[in-house]
Amino acid sequence: MANLQKIWQQAYDIVPAQLERVKEVKCAATAFNTNIDAVVKISGKGLSELAKSVGLSFENLQNKKTQLQTPRDVVRGIIKCFTLGIAEEWLCEDKRVYEWMRDNLRYDRLQMGGQAGIVANVLAVLGVQKVCAHTNSHPRLQAEQFLNMPNLLAVDEQGIPCCACALNRQNDEPLVHWIIEFDAGDVFELGGGEYVCPKANRFIATYDTANIELKINDGFLQYLNRNGFDYLILSGYHNLTEARGGLKRIAATIPLINEWKRRNPRGIIHLELASTQDKAVRLSILRDLAPLVHSVGMNDREALDALEVLNPQMFAAFIKKDLHAADLWQILLELKAKIHTPRMQLHFYGMYLTLQDKNFAITPEAEKRGMMLAATVAASKAGLGNIEKRENLLWAQGRKIGQRGIDSLQKLADFLHNPEFVVSGLTTYENMDLIAVPTILVDKPKTLVGMGDTISSVSLVGAR
Ligand code: GLC
Repeated sequence: MANLQKIWQQAYDIVPAQLERVKEVKCAATAFNTNIDAVVKISGKGLSELAKSVGLSFENLQNKKTQLQTPRDVVRGIIKCFTLGIAEEWLCEDKRVYEWMRDNLRYDRLQMGGQAGIVANVLAVLGVQKVCAHTNSHPRLQAEQFLNMPNLLAVDEQGIPCCACALNRQNDEPLVHWIIEFDAGDVFELGGGEYVCPKANRFIATYDTANIELKINDGFLQYLNRNGFDYLILSGYHNLTEARGGLKRIAATIPLINEWKRRNPRGIIHLELASTQDKAVRLSILRDLAPLVHSVGMNDREALDALEVLNPQMFAAFIKKDLHAADLWQILLELKAKIHTPRMQLHFYGMYLTLQDKNFAITPEAEKRGMMLAATVAASKAGLGNIEKRENLLWAQGRKIGQRGIDSLQKLADFLHNPEFVVSGLTTYENMDLIAVPTILVDKPKTLVGMGDTISSVSLVGAR
């Protein structure tokens, strides 16, 4: 075992050189959802008090609805995520509930939110020569969440690209999402019962008038047609609902994606799944969009959600299990068989897995390098709380590879009857390549929000 630690530690030695190579990437774009995150840490005690203040009872917790129609729903959402140690995002369409959150939850800090915004910042700091982010609303408060970097752009009202941090579309309403984080081991009490939080995570309560409608900025489309891209990272479908016409909005982006592919035959389009509550929307994303793009990224929870709509029978067999690496591998394989995206990446606590077609544009060795760069950058973000400065990116370089990931890799290698896999992280399966890396784990992460977006985008763009 100590030997495996050493082998992987040495494999990670390439990471600083890999970071330098990201500078070769000429242009990337990110769409669609950019917003402002109001981040607040809640303690178990604070949560107990909040539950009392809204008169929440144990019976209320049996309610399975995932819309935020009352303050009680907000508290119920936090309790669900806290007690299960999971991440979910629920929507709020009532301004009064939003105002209740503003006045009762408050926030510790504001930061960049939304996959498109988060990934744009990450890719710019990583050194991609030109990054353009799609924004639906870009008032000063939104601009302030962009890093002050000359390679980081957004478009103004006329479709002209400008430095994203300097733009100020004054009439736009700021789109603020509440990110309520909690720590593992913290205790919440309700009606005499005690619940221990099993894993640090967060609940997201979203009030957003533009992104939840998947509004698209025409100026950005013009920019993309004129400038092209090497990588386009897409997300933001996850907050659509069937009731609000979500399926039509998904369908409306299909011709856009086809046109982007036609104009950028060598460009790679990646779709980040994110937590999608509405099952009809989730199914449409997987059935109608995922097969069109080159790459899809997800975490374990999102993989299970995808399985729920694509293969309910198999989902039923996995739902009660504490999923380990071999389970997740089987789920990934099933998703690949169902949606056929050429490259699929699944990241979970301690390990990342990429499954791709044999002839994919990125070699398995390059994928492995990208995944190790991503694991290092993600651990740096967890350890420092942000990766806003380039010197922060490699904070985690040289830190111990988590035993948890090594054990997971071992389990998967045993399952595949492939002892070599635990050492190399590379193997083939039928006509596909499977790449796995154990990651660096940080004991007390300062933040978790945006971690998945960071992992997916860095491992893709860093795969060189
Ligand atoms: C979702 C949320 C956004 C958050 C992001 C993090 O898109 O709406 O607020 O920043 O997830 O991944």
